[in-house]
Parts: sequence; C-alpha cells; structure tokens
Amino acid sequence: MGTRKPYSSFTISSLLCFLSFFPVSLAKSTIEPCAVSDTCGAMVGYSLYTDLKVAEVANLFQVDPVALLTANAIDISYPDLENHILPARLFLKVPVVCACKDGIRKSFTRYRTRPSDTLGSVADGVFSGLVSAEQIRDANGITDPTVLDVGLTLTVPLPCTCFNSTDNLLPAVYLSYVVRPGDTVSGIAARYYTTVTDIMTVNAMGSMTVKPGDIVSIPLPACASSFPRYSSDFGLIVPNGSYAIAASHCVQCSCGPGNLKLYCTPASLAVSCSSMQCKNSNLMLGNVTMQQSSAGCNVTSCSYGGYVNGTIVTTLSTSLQPRCPGDHQFPPLIAPPTALSDVSSLAPAPSPSQSGGTGTTLPKPSTPGSSVFSGLSPANGPSGSASSAPSLSKALTVFSNALFSCLTIVIVL
Ligand SMILES: *[C@@H]1O[C@H](CO)[C@@H](O)[C@H](O)[C@H]1NC(C)=O
Ligand SMILES: *[C@@H]1O[C@H](CO)[C@@H](O)[C@H](O)[C@H]1NC(C)=O
Ligand SMILES: *[C@@H]1O[C@H](CO)[C@@H](O)[C@H](O)[C@H]1NC(C)=O
Ligand SMILES: *[C@@H]1O[C@H](CO)[C@@H](O)[C@H](O)[C@H]1NC(C)=O
Ligand SMILES: *[C@@H]1O[C@H](CO)[C@@H](O)[C@H](O)[C@H]1NC(C)=O
Repeated sequence: MGTRKPYSSFTISSLLCFLSFFPVSLAKSTIEPCAVSDTCGAMVGYSLYTDLKVAEVANLFQVDPVALLTANAIDISYPDLENHILPARLFLKVPVVCACKDGIRKSFTRYRTRPSDTLGSVADGVFSGLVSAEQIRDANGITDPTVLDVGLTLTVPLPCTCFNSTDNLLPAVYLSYVVRPGDTVSGIAARYYTTVTDIMTVNAMGSMTVKPGDIVSIPLPACASSFPRYSSDFGLIVPNGSYAIAASHCVQCSCGPGNLKLYCTPASLAVSCSSMQCKNSNLMLGNVTMQQSSAGCNVTSCSYGGYVNGTIVTTLSTSLQPRCPGDHQFPPLIAPPTALSDVSSLAPAPSPSQSGGTGTTLPKPSTPGSSVFSGLSPANGPSGSASSAPSLSKALTVFSNALFSCLTIVIVL
C-alpha cells in the first residue's frame, strides 16, 4: 500500500473533527492500477448540487452537452437545450474519458473557483462527493487549504475504472457511483441491471456493506463497437438504455433494450455531414432490408464503421438468419427533466422512438466536433498523489483520507 496521506492536513482536520464531534467514518473507493497510457470511456454518477443549466453541468465535467444528454437518454430534439435548467439533486451519468495517471485510473476536469468556495464545498458540494478535498489539494499542490483564491483554476481528479471495458468477458462501461444514504448493494445491482456478485468482485468487497460516501464501480452492460484503431471514435462503448453521439455530431449510436448490439443511425442534429450511404447500395446508415427465402431470412444492413479522417465509414453486410428480426427498438427517451419528480421514477417516455423526426431544433454544442469521449484534455495537474500502484488484485479498495473528508463535512455544514 502506498502512503497517500501527507501530514499537513492531519492536524487541521483532526482538530476540526474533534471540535465538531462528527463521527469519523472511512469512505472507500475503488482504484484500478494501470500501466499504459490508454484511455477508455467511463461514467461518473453526479447529483446536481443546485439548479444548473445543461451547459453548466457539461462545462463542470468538460464534456460535450449533447453527449451528456444522450448518455442519459434525454431527448435532444427540444429547442435551446443548452440553456435548459436541470433541477438540483437530479442524478446524471456523465460520460468521461478514463485515463491512466501515476499508475491509477483517473479522469480529470478543471474547476474555476468562485467566492466562498472551499476545497470541501467544491469536493462534496459542486462535485457531489466524487472527489475529496484532500485529492483536490494534492492534485493542485495547495499548501494552505484554508485559503482558496477566487478565479483559481483547479485540476479536479475524478474516480473512474476501465477494467478492459468488460465484465465477465462481456462489454461493460464502469460507472463510478457515490453511495447515498439508504443504498444497498442489491438495490444498486438491480437498478443497473448487474449482479451483487459482479459489484462485489469488481470492487474487491469482503462484505455487502456500503456506506454513504463510498465510491463503487458499477459495471453497466453495454454495446461495444469494433471500429478500427485508427478511427477517432475507436473503443466507443454505449451502456444499455442509452445513446452516444459520434462523428462530429453526425452519427447517433444506441444500445438496447432488446439486444446488446450497437446500433447507429444518422443523428438528427443540424450539422453538415459526409455521406452516410453504403457504397454500391441505396441503404443509409442504420437501414436494414430483409428477404424471406426458403433458406431463412436474408438480412442486409448498412452499419457504422467509425469516423476516419473526417469520413463516416459505412459497412454493408449480408447475413442469412433463421428468422427475420423485428423492427429495431430504441431505448426510451425522456423529456429534459425540469423537476425532480419528473425523473424520480425514471419513467420511460410513452413512445420509445428514435430521437429527432421533423423540425428538430438542436442545441448548439459549445464544443463543436467532439464525440462522446472527446472534450477532455488529459490534464496534467501538478502531480497527484504518489501512491504506488498495487497489482495483486483486479481492484484494490482503499481508504481515502477519512480525516480530511471530515474536514470537508465541517466546512460544508
Ligand atoms: C479485453 O477485452 C477484449 C474484448 O473486448 C478481449 O479480447 C481481451 O481478451 C480482454 N483482455 C483482458 C486482459 O481481459
Ligand atoms: C437492458 O435494459 C433493458 C431495460 O431498458 C432491460 O430490460 C434489459 O434486461 C437490459 N439488458 C441487459 C443485458 O442488461
Ligand atoms: C434509411 O435510413 C434513413 C436514415 O435513418 C431513414 O430516414 C430511412 O427511412 C431509412 N429507410 C428505410 C427503408 O428504412
Ligand atoms: C441477400 O440479399 C442481397 C441483397 O439484397 C443479395 O445480393 C444476395 O444475393 C442475397 N443472398 C441470398 C443468399 O439470398
Ligand atoms: C488520414 O489522412 C492522412 C493524411 O491526410 C493519411 O496519411 C492517413 O493515411 C489517413 N488515414 C486513414 C486511415 O485513411
């Protein structure tokens, strides 16, 4: 185990803890050792700390607003979505690029401090517990955490895991989830279509106990792509029930609910796109034709093969299947949430339909030309924690600095 606790915070935080009589509880999070500089698509679970515009949430995580919306199956055909106000405490899955920094999987974003911000309020409030005050302090080499200048740009490390984007050899996207009061492992497993065993294995948990504030990695069943390595969206992976935007907003891919095969169609966003027609055919991306014959069903489909040098690669394939597949079902879309009650049930929209249609007004992305996994520049914060990466188990559960999280609680209250 690497030593990750500098002493400077020790005295301050233990003093504050002592004075405040808050019970000291150790928050756990799962870290994945890594060696190579590859990245993967991952997600962090975020609860809005206040009412925020779509663009503000996207900016907080430096992600494409369209990618944020589609990852949550929010219908992007509504007008002026960037300025749509999302309600406080809404839970969103934010697609992030999971990188490898100092031997540990991490994602990075930046945050510009505002008056009355403290490390604790940024960590527990703004970023809803996805990061601790100590981690922000370490990542930015802050010596005196009690003084935080306004307008400072902080590097914020966020937890993420890749685990080869598989779970039990099946495609999976990992969601970093901050445990909330009342959560149980079985409840979490049921909510995300995974199993208790999978969650326990991934997080190297000895028991089924989780505490509020713990960060667990949840494998979300997903649809993998098989784009060539030289395509800019290589490795695109979309969790069941959601969408991703690709090829400079020209292509929209979805996963589920019927099967876990990635299904891509032209996106209905108002951008100019290269041809999406398959060569030597009149089929467009996503089109499928079927012909019943005595031998079975002759299925011809035009599918997306990645974004290469600004070109949308299309692939025409024909296969003989025992029976003709039914119409493609899309994951249900939800209307942009305005109140928490809209989504508390996560009720699917009444008619599962392809987003778009006629007369769509589109959000103007503030990060043009980005795909779901772009938008994050691998931040090079002034050296994070110098923990040596253990390599014995798939996952290593570590204790974050409990005293410092205590300090953050004190500050927030
Ligand atoms: C990683 O996943 C790929 C399939 O996506 C699989 O072929 C490969 O064996 C996996 N590697 C490891 C180390 O599990
Ligand atoms: C995918 O999600 C749908 C609900 O949207 C669910 O019925 C189905 O079981 C899920 N499939 C997998 C493999 O998790
Ligand atoms: C082919 O795909 C295009 C674009 O998604 C769609 O507008 C069209 O209706 C599809 N045609 C058929 C025959 O499915
Ligand atoms: C299947 O359909 C394609 C195009 O419609 C055709 O070229 C091919 O010969 C057909 N194959 C069979 C086995 O019928
Ligand atoms: C992309 O374009 C560059 C130069 O424009 C070329 O060298 C490269 O081979 C192209 N890549 C692919 C995969 O076509």
